[in-house]
Order: sequence, then structure tokens, then C-alpha cells
Amino acid sequence: MADTAREVDGGRLTRILPDALQAIHEVIERHGVTEEEWMAVLGFLTEVGRQDEFVLLSDVTRTSVLVDAISHEGEDGVTPSDVEGPLYREDPPWREKPVKIYEEYEGAEKGDVLFVRGRVASTDGAPLGGAVLDIWQTGPDGGYDIWDERQPDYNFRGRFGVDEDGGYEFQTMVPKPYTIPNDGPVGRLLEATGQHPWRPAHIHFKVEAEGHEPLVTQVFFPGDPYLDDDTIGAVKSALVRPLTWHDGEEELARSGLDAPFYTCEFDITLKLAMSAARA
Ligand code: BEZ
Ligand code: FE
Repeated sequence: MADTAREVDGGRLTRILPDALQAIHEVIERHGVTEEEWMAVLGFLTEVGRQDEFVLLSDVTRTSVLVDAISHEGEDGVTPSDVEGPLYREDPPWREKPVKIYEEYEGAEKGDVLFVRGRVASTDGAPLGGAVLDIWQTGPDGGYDIWDERQPDYNFRGRFGVDEDGGYEFQTMVPKPYTIPNDGPVGRLLEATGQHPWRPAHIHFKVEAEGHEPLVTQVFFPGDPYLDDDTIGAVKSALVRPLTWHDGEEELARSGLDAPFYTCEFDITLKLAMSAARA
């Protein structure tokens, strides 16, 4: 992602910026925005920058969802992308097989174990044995590791490789809906405009495989109270995956668990990279 104006293609910048300014000026004029109000806007944006909340602002204003839709328009036959959000952490731990992305921690809510599994393939169906998955999510308490002092660092996060046939499976817990960070300037904006801060439960995925476009996406679950009312508007029906409950004696014995658990199937199809497609 481009960090500075210098990283945006110069030609695009000179075409887009005047339009953006014209749109802002038109709104200011239409509403007769006063000096005081404009100073408040600038103060708000300054605070958003100081508190590193620009990604969050882009998300709650549904701008991230719009840019995601435009960037991936017409990508039929591949797994839909979705916004990354601000809670990804670089360099999560590499998890060996059998992959489990969390450790139990003291004081945790009692949640349900979930095995997520599927296959990573290219658009022509060829398995992508070299693919790497990078997962992050909240646990049964609805909080990310970075907010929750009880959780070990990088809990409910992890990277791992898929099998030769593109198959993967990881053990996690069913996440809960949660409120996005709302104790800073973006939270004050949500409160002032009456927008709730809730997101439906979800699991984030980044998937990479040689010769293919990287995919960033999320998986959601049916029946979630915020499925139709995600504060960042990121739910796509194709990414809502059923959870299957397993409580049979044989299934429990096979899983090595002493309590019933869920499974969720999520096959992933990646788009051939432009350079590979041309070769
Ligand atoms: C998230 O799902 O992690 C998230 C997305 C957008 C804003 C805040 C959090
Ligand atoms: Fe999230």
C-alpha cells in the first residue's frame, strides 16, 4: 500500500486530487461550513493521525470496502477479497502441524473449539501446495491479543503452510462479535453520528502462493446478530460459511478433544498473477 503521496503514480495524483478537492469544496459550500467547524475537522484529522487511526477511519466510513470492491471488480471464479482492517500484526508465529493458533489462558470465556479446513487452488483447479496462510482473529472473549492482557502475545494469530495437495486445517475457537477500538477520535465520531461499533464474528485470512495474487479476506458465520449490520460493512454473502457441530463419540475420539467442537469448510481460489498469466 502507498504510504505517501510520492508513492502514488504522479499522473493519477494530478487527475484525482483536483476532483477530490472540488468535491470537498462543493460540500463546504453547500453546507456553509464555518471556520470554526473546519478547524474542528482539521483538529479531528490531526488526532486521527496522532493515534494512528486512519485505517480505522477509512474502515468505519466504508471507504475501505469501496476501494476493495473497485480493486477486485470482475474477479469471477476466485475467492472474494475483503478489507484487512487495522489489527493485523506483522511476523506472526509460524505454526507447525497439527496447526493450533492459540493457547488456553487464565480467565478465558469457555468457548467452542473450531477446526477450519479447506484447500487452496488456482482458478484452473490446480492445487497450490506452496501456499502460506496467515490467520488472525479474536477468541471467545471477543478481544484481540493486543487489547487483552490475559492472552499470550500473538494468541489467535499464526502463519502456516498448506499440504502438497493444497489442503489445510487449523484449530482455533469460534470467535465472537466485538466492538472495534472506540476509545479514540474515531470512536468519538461514531458516537457523535450514532453509528454502533460492532463487527460480526469473523476470521481474517491472508493467503499467498507463488505466481498468484495475494488474497486478503475474512470468513463470517450464519446467524450472527451483526451479519447485516457490520459497522465497516464488510460482510459478503460468499464469505459466510456454516459451522457444523460434532458431538458423536467417534468424532470426539478422533479429534482427541473431550468436548464437542465445530468445523467450518473454506476452500480458497487464488487469481493467477498478471505476470504469470502473460508468461
Ligand atoms: C477488524 O476486523 O479487525 C477490524 C476491521 C476494521 C476496523 C477495526 C477492526
Ligand atoms: Fe477483525
